[in-house]
Amino acid sequence: MKTTDTSKMTFAQVESQRGLESALKMQPDEVRRTIADSGLKGRGGAGFPTSTKWNFAAETVGDLKYVVCNADEGEPGTFKDRVILTDFSDLVFEGMTIGGHAIGASKGIVYLRGEYTYLRQLLEGKLEERRRTGLLGKNVLGTSGFDFDIEIRMGAGAYVCGEETALIESLEGQRGEPRNRPPFPVNTGFMGRPTIVNNVETFAWVTCILVKGSKWFEKIGTETSHGLKLFSVSGDCRASGVFEFPLGITIKELLKKVGGENAKAVQVGGAAGHCVPASEFGRAIAFEDLSTGGSIIVFGPGRDMLHVAQNFMEFFKDESCGQCTPCREGNARLLEGIEMLEQGNCSMKYLRDLCRLGETMQLASKCGLGQSSPNAFLSIVEHFKDEIMGRIPAAC
Ligand SMILES: Cc1cc2nc3c(=O)[nH]c(=O)nc-3n(C[C@H](O)[C@H](O)[C@H](O)COP(=O)(O)O)c2cc1C
Ligand code: SF4
Repeated sequence: MKTTDTSKMTFAQVESQRGLESALKMQPDEVRRTIADSGLKGRGGAGFPTSTKWNFAAETVGDLKYVVCNADEGEPGTFKDRVILTDFSDLVFEGMTIGGHAIGASKGIVYLRGEYTYLRQLLEGKLEERRRTGLLGKNVLGTSGFDFDIEIRMGAGAYVCGEETALIESLEGQRGEPRNRPPFPVNTGFMGRPTIVNNVETFAWVTCILVKGSKWFEKIGTETSHGLKLFSVSGDCRASGVFEFPLGITIKELLKKVGGENAKAVQVGGAAGHCVPASEFGRAIAFEDLSTGGSIIVFGPGRDMLHVAQNFMEFFKDESCGQCTPCREGNARLLEGIEMLEQGNCSMKYLRDLCRLGETMQLASKCGLGQSSPNAFLSIVEHFKDEIMGRIPAAC
């Protein structure tokens, strides 16, 4: 059963335009302070404080600055940005415009996942309407000196292009490969100019915060993870779909809401996240415990966890950009090891070597892809020892 009901989401209660009107009555630093007071952290996965990023970009001198919306949404099991863009794109465009005012940018770009081409016409129509009604263009909403417009650029299907520096390379027409950092995009981003890159959901919450106030948002969640979050829930549960929950919800509470009580494991954070066994379902989904961009995959009692690891590693082997050795070689070797386990050809010693390789990849890979791709394998080996060791012949 699919149960996404966007009419119940907070986004449905927020009237478009009000957030921008309230932001434009403030000085840019006041807008950034409002976001800081709300405690908003990025909803794309890493949980970086939005106001800190915006402050860096605002403080960097530049003749042009850019606001980029990361709508690449390529993490397996994540589909909440697609829902936001379908039903609440005005809140996203409005959040980007508020970002433009807050950092002094005049140009916004939505980097839209190649597979979401079908959304483009809808989004272009919304942008056109915003231009017609003065919400984009010269002197936005009659604010002298504040010009801001947004264009949509298409991705071409590479998962790594969701990584913000690879995304910028792709926008510039280069191969989508992550850059060395520093410099960071807030200093040297798109076309060498200060650039903020934020997730679709982050921009939508910015608009809500400007409408409902920073206190409203700050009060929800835990001490260090504030506010509400959308979760894409899939797998072995009665109600898959997109749900809004406060940060800090435990896995157990979430499973109850989606009818997944008999799960044996939950993958939090997509293929790059962690596989959490039932014994740890009391843990909280929050930046200080289990961090996620929103992907929750439920595994029922009948699932073979080695197959789960294999599925994820096949994805990473395909999606590694190949630029650095730990990731390019590591993903291939981990997948090979999983296949050896499956065929009963892996020794205990080799399994230990594979785990050490995974830890090396976490430390030595250049970008988040290789740093996180071994997570699922390592957590499955750690928490499902019986299933994994059962594949190792007695003599090994
Ligand atoms: C391999 C990889 C893929 C990523 N894909 C996405 C994505 O599809 N959408 C997204 O918002 N962030 C993605 N990120 C995180 C971005 O690099 C960046 O942290 C994020 O867009 C910042 O926005 P936020 O602060 O609002 O979360 C990805 C990171 C990595 C390493
Ligand atoms: S970690 Fe992987 S995706 Fe990232 S730069 Fe290295 S090879 Fe490319």
